[in-house]
Amino acid sequence: MKAITALFSTLLVLVNFPGYIQAQKLLAVQKVISPAQVWLDTNGNAINAHGGGILFFEGVYYWYGEHKLEGKSEAQFADGGIHCYSSADLVNWKDEGVVLSVDYKDKKSDLAYGCILERPKVVYNQKNKQFLAFFKLYLKGVGYETSNVGVAVAGKPSGPFIYHHKFHGGGSPNGSGDFSMFRDEDGALYHLTVRKPDKTFVIGKMDDDYYYPEGKYNVCDGITMHTEAPAVIKRGGDYYLLGSGSSDWKPNAARYFTTDKLTGKWTFHGNPCLGVNSVDNIGIESTFGGQSSFVFPVEGMKDACIAMFDIWKPENPVTGKYIWLPVEVKDGKMSVSWRDSWNLEDLGQKSGIKKLQMIDN
Ligand code: GAL
Repeated sequence: MKAITALFSTLLVLVNFPGYIQAQKLLAVQKVISPAQVWLDTNGNAINAHGGGILFFEGVYYWYGEHKLEGKSEAQFADGGIHCYSSADLVNWKDEGVVLSVDYKDKKSDLAYGCILERPKVVYNQKNKQFLAFFKLYLKGVGYETSNVGVAVAGKPSGPFIYHHKFHGGGSPNGSGDFSMFRDEDGALYHLTVRKPDKTFVIGKMDDDYYYPEGKYNVCDGITMHTEAPAVIKRGGDYYLLGSGSSDWKPNAARYFTTDKLTGKWTFHGNPCLGVNSVDNIGIESTFGGQSSFVFPVEGMKDACIAMFDIWKPENPVTGKYIWLPVEVKDGKMSVSWRDSWNLEDLGQKSGIKKLQMIDN
């Protein structure tokens, strides 16, 4: 009888083998963030959310990024839409799926496959109780010369997002490129972006719905040198803008600027990065091999914030990796130091703040 039971259990395990492997993967709770290394989601798959941003809503972080299609290079149109992941500890991410897809059927759609859909950022509008996804949208067949800001809307952070409309950013008929959507403490939303075709950095305030720019854009005095990949954060009454230079998919040195008034004059401070990416052996002259995409505060940890960078792989974009590093802001200066691996507990100990609780996803 015993032998029969043993045989039966073995058969069960064998029949369920794929599920068994899946369960084993699910159980592996990660403890650290390892910049420039493959980052697995809670299903054991590499996270596919490039050029992304974070939204914190009701105790959960949502990571939205470019969903890159398997087997396509950038030149072969690798953009599949917006991929979302959720987490409460910033280390273990649950796949929420593609929350806005490009349109594979309707060739006339603004999102028709073959469009370029980049750098999605999601913001919550308290007034309309809407989640708005903004992204760079280059229509199919148009290329990088003329850009739109695409806007999609959802009723919950995990989507689905429904495409709503597009507009030309920067007050230019050619639109604008890389951008940051910065929501100030009074709820006003600003579009900070690099205008096309002259690459001047400009700022425009959005209307109350966050649908369209409310009026004219202003040139950001002091933000020079073709700044791209902007990421804005406010600390102690000052605004910090982390960005890059302009060299397509190739990395260049990061730079940052500060101001005490968003529409005022910005001060240039140079490169905030320190150290060397020991995985790829790349230093700060190339931002550890990455380009900035977002900076955000850690909830419940005073002064702690994190910068997100992308290591682009234009020949095989789905294999692009992420560099997340703590940002230190002290006496009006910003620094981003390389770490091989780290977690929120390190940040807590460093600044004497209570440790954040790890959650199960
Ligand atoms: C980068 C930009 C990326 C992508 C790329 C295309 O400068 O940050 O989002 O547009 O150029 O070459």
